[in-house]
Amino acid sequence: MSTHLQVINFSLTYFQNCYAFLCFLLVLSTCKLNAQDSTFAQGVIVSAHPLASQIGIQILKNGGNAFDAAVAVEFALAVCYPIAGNIGGGGLLVYRKANGEVGMLDYREKAPALASRDMYVGNDKSVKGHFSVGVPGTVAGMCELHAKFGTLPLADLIAPAQKLAAQGVPLTAREAKRLTKEQDTIRKYNTYTPCLLHPAGKWQTGDTLHLKDLAYTLAQIQERGREGFYKGIIAEKIVREMQKRGGLISFTDLETYRPTWRSPLVGKYKGHRIITVGTPSAGGLILLQCLQMLELGKFELGKYGFQSPKSIQALTEVERLAYADRAMYAGDADFYPVPYHNLLQKSYLRRRIADFSWEKAKPSQEVKAGSFLPTDSEETTHYSIVDKWGNALSATTTLNDAYGSRVMVEGAGFLLNDEMDDFSAQVGKPNKYGLTGTEANAIQPFKRPLSSMTPTIVERAGKLLLIVGTPGGSTIPTSVLQTILNVIEYKLPLRQAVQSLRFHHQWLPDAIQTEPAPRTLPAQTIQTLEKKGYKFMTRPETIGRVEAILALPAGKYQGASDDRGDDTVAGW
Ligand code: GLY
Repeated sequence: MSTHLQVINFSLTYFQNCYAFLCFLLVLSTCKLNAQDSTFAQGVIVSAHPLASQIGIQILKNGGNAFDAAVAVEFALAVCYPIAGNIGGGGLLVYRKANGEVGMLDYREKAPALASRDMYVGNDKSVKGHFSVGVPGTVAGMCELHAKFGTLPLADLIAPAQKLAAQGVPLTAREAKRLTKEQDTIRKYNTYTPCLLHPAGKWQTGDTLHLKDLAYTLAQIQERGREGFYKGIIAEKIVREMQKRGGLISFTDLETYRPTWRSPLVGKYKGHRIITVGTPSAGGLILLQCLQMLELGKFELGKYGFQSPKSIQALTEVERLAYADRAMYAGDADFYPVPYHNLLQKSYLRRRIADFSWEKAKPSQEVKAGSFLPTDSEETTHYSIVDKWGNALSATTTLNDAYGSRVMVEGAGFLLNDEMDDFSAQVGKPNKYGLTGTEANAIQPFKRPLSSMTPTIVERAGKLLLIVGTPGGSTIPTSVLQTILNVIEYKLPLRQAVQSLRFHHQWLPDAIQTEPAPRTLPAQTIQTLEKKGYKFMTRPETIGRVEAILALPAGKYQGASDDRGDDTVAGW
């Protein structure tokens, strides 16, 4: 078997102490890691962490399919990427089987039975702490995915993550920094000393996170499947944790949680078929509305040029319109009649874009708008997978904020989400922007909070073309949109399509949001657009971390991970 030494984008110190180093050497000998520009015939995995990507590729090498690998990657991220990987959160995925069949699995968290519409009125408890937690969906989602499509035993798919947790995980430089920043909040929102707290309050690159309790929880799931989490000892630990500080999740909430198979939202763009998520996310809706308006408005992006003022203007105006609709209409369609049909109708979208002007920006206050401002957190994570049969899977999973609610279940070793904050927490009351929330996303028991996650698969001429997704809260749909356009319209190589700077407009605030240096737009482009009335706003953080796989001719694939993080391509 050949050894491929590739460019590795994280430092050697990371590996100095540990098991990961041995794992890493082993994997180098059997597959390509972070192989951005290589092509593969047997399978590719792109995820936020090198260990998760290599665990997934090993499952493919062991004969597993893309669904088996997804289960292994999801559990691995819960161990090696605690900022967003999770078993205490939820997610959404779309798949396209080798025979062309498509589907969506919704394993988003739900509001507990005791949740109520005004539970966050007059308090800030939706963001952190026990009261912010929705009923986790990840374990049920993965068990469901495995039951329907898996070929290897569930316990074998969880085993690598379980071993990793038992042996401890070395921190990358980025993770050490981020976790150090979070020490005070983690201390504040726990009643004991969880393993994410460093005794001296500062994590260093290469320090090991000891995750024995998480290893125990994973062993329970290995042994008993979903019941190992939603019933018995782990459920008791979750409920006990909730009861310490007013959390709402009960045994019944856990026992009755079920993921939902849904039809994906499917649209077209210039001969491409876009397979993305519908409810409970607005991400797919925004993506399809934007693409449709670009096509119906006869914008020739390829001709205008990549990130030219005209391209930026066209994208900004369709994003403005789509986010205004999101604010008004989007919510969990199981509870609220989201008018997908109308919102995606050609005649409607043609009307929406009809008064586009190249002369000047359209102020957001002139756009018919709802009154709910998206406030999703940006700490989510995505993985894209293809296997040797051509099965493709695109999954985005989240705790909502970085480290979720910061509450770690005592004795069970995992973080709980703060997904309740994705609801429109105060319907009828002004939020921090002076706007009021709408009914569509109001809190109700068992309802799912509105998401922006946009895991997506693109087909061309009936064949798989692109698997794509990203974290990034409300910026997710626009990052996915730009990556798709970078490939389809601007014909960029995949790596550049993923790494290039991104920009974002979400109707309110009325500004084109850009990334911090060095990913800055040329001064001339900004000036040209400012003259037309566009405002710019530099965000403190980068936008998104796209994980993409491109299908090439002759059954080959290429992966690209985002160098905005420790994200890694693995393939063989
Ligand atoms: N919590 C982020 C999202 O669901 O979009």
